[in-house]
Amino acid sequence: MDANSREDIDIVGQKLKEQYKLDTVLITRSEEGMTLYDGGIHNIPTYAKEVYDVTGAGDTVISVFTLARAAGATWEEAAKIANAAGGIVVGKIGTSTVSEKELISTYNSIYNIGGTCKC
Ligand SMILES: Nc1ncnc2c1ncn2[C@@H]1O[C@H](COP(=O)(O)OP(=O)(O)O)[C@@H](O)[C@H]1O
Ligand SMILES: [Mg+2]
Repeated sequence: MDANSREDIDIVGQKLKEQYKLDTVLITRSEEGMTLYDGGIHNIPTYAKEVYDVTGAGDTVISVFTLARAAGATWEEAAKIANAAGGIVVGKIGTSTVSEKELISTYNSIYNIGGTCKC
């Protein structure tokens, strides 16, 4: 089906989850951020303000999402960490990488978490 509106995307996300008996579906939505379907619907807006090059944003998201889950994050925590990483790479020109330090400090500033990174 065509999915051109937020409502359509929500239908697709939930249908995919049911049809393939998935725990969770994560749909990335470019400048709209991403939405996680895990029974509920969690909309995670992008925080990126300066966008120079979106190359590799989706690849960054799936890599960081998977790594965060493997490291013990919940689906929602993993999506938020991945969204932070996606927001970092779109602010860099070319196919870019994200360092641990950048990811921790960006995540902390988005979610207003105090303290400094010891990495
Ligand atoms: N134009 C943009 N403005 C702000 N954030 C973006 C933009 N494009 C991508 N992002 C960020 O990168 C993530 C993945 O990008 P997306 O375009 O959805 O994937 P893909 O690279 O597979 O097309 C988004 O969820 C969002 O966090
Ligand atoms: Mg895109």
